[in-house]
Amino acid sequence: MSEAHRVAVIGGDGIGPEVVAEALKVVAASGVHLDTVDYDLGADRYLRTGEVLPEPVLDELRGFDAILLGAVGPPVGSSEVPPGTMERGLLLKLRFDLDLYINLRPFVGLPGSIAEGCEFVVVRENTEGTYAGEGGFLRKGTPNEVATQGSVNTRMGVERCARFAFELAARRPRRHLTLVHKTNVLTFAGDLWQRTVDEVSPDYPGVSRDYNHVDATCIYLVEQPGRYDVITTDNLFGDIITDLAGAVTGGIGFAASANLNPARTGPSLFEPVHGAANDIAGTGAANPLAAIRSAALMLEHLGEQEAAERVAKAATEYLASHQFGTPFPPTVVIGDAIAERL
Ligand code: IPM
Ligand code: MN
Repeated sequence: MSEAHRVAVIGGDGIGPEVVAEALKVVAASGVHLDTVDYDLGADRYLRTGEVLPEPVLDELRGFDAILLGAVGPPVGSSEVPPGTMERGLLLKLRFDLDLYINLRPFVGLPGSIAEGCEFVVVRENTEGTYAGEGGFLRKGTPNEVATQGSVNTRMGVERCARFAFELAARRPRRHLTLVHKTNVLTFAGDLWQRTVDEVSPDYPGVSRDYNHVDATCIYLVEQPGRYDVITTDNLFGDIITDLAGAVTGGIGFAASANLNPARTGPSLFEPVHGAANDIAGTGAANPLAAIRSAALMLEHLGEQEAAERVAKAATEYLASHQFGTPFPPTVVIGDAIAERL
C-alpha cells in the first residue's frame, strides 16, 4: 500500500456529497490510501452560519495534497442565497487564491453520443478573463444605470496557460493544439492570446496548430468533434464550450475536471464539471461517473499513475457494459460496480 495522501473533501451541496462518496469508495478499492478530512462548506453552511469560506479554513486547505469537491450552489432561484455567493465566495475563491490556473477537462465520446469515439481535452484558463471580477456599477438602480464587466488577460496568465496546453499536446499522439477565441471581435484580448500562442509555439516544434472562433467551435463540436485534440481558451469560453463538449460526448454527468496548480505551490482541486443538481439530490439518480473520473485525475496528480489508469479503465469498462438509452442504476450501485472491477 502506498503512503497516505492528505485530501480535503468538500462534498458541498445537492448531489455533491453523494457523488463524492462514490468517488472515495472507488479510490479505496484501487488500494490507494487517502487520509481525508471533511469540510462542511456550501450553501447549507452559509444558510446556517452566514459563512462561505472563512479565512482560517482556506489556510487549512492550503496544507493538503489535494482537494476533492462535489458541487456547490443553492437550488436555482433560491432567494435566500444571492446569486454568485457560493460561486464567487467558494469555488472561484479557491481557484484564484490557490492559483489553480489550469482547468483541465478531458472528454471521451461515449457509445451512442454525437462525439462517439472522439477524445479531446480542453485546457481552460482558470484565474482571469471575465471571471476576475473586474467592473462595477455606476448610478445603480437609476434609469441611467451602467454595469461593466471587463475581461482581464495578463501576458503571464495567458502564457502559462498556452505553455501548459502545448506541453500536453506534445505528449499526446496527435500533437495538435487549437486556440479558441473570438479574435475578430475581441481585438484586444484575442490579440494577446493569438500573439502569445504564436510566440511560444517555436518552443514546441512537434505540435501543429489551429485557430477556431468560439462560435464556429460550437458548430464543430457538434458536427466534427474529431477535429480536436487539445483546445486552449479563456475562462468564459472554456466554461461554455466544456458544457457543450460534455453534452456531445454523452452528458455532463460524465465530465471530469482538474483545477491545477501546475507549479505545485499548493493543492490542486478536482471536481465534476456538473453542478449541485439540487432537484435530484437524495433520489439516487445522480451519476457518480464524473466524480469518479475526477478522482482518477486526482490520483494521477498525486503520482498514483497506475491506480489512476485502473480507475479510469474501470469507469470506461463499466460504461461500455451499460446499454445506452436505458436508465442508469442508482448512484450507489454504479459506485459499487466500478469498485468491484478494481
Ligand atoms: C464550472 C462551473 C463554474 C464556472 C461555476 C459554478 C462558478 O460552471 O466549473 O464550469 O463557471 O466555472
Ligand atoms: Mn460551467
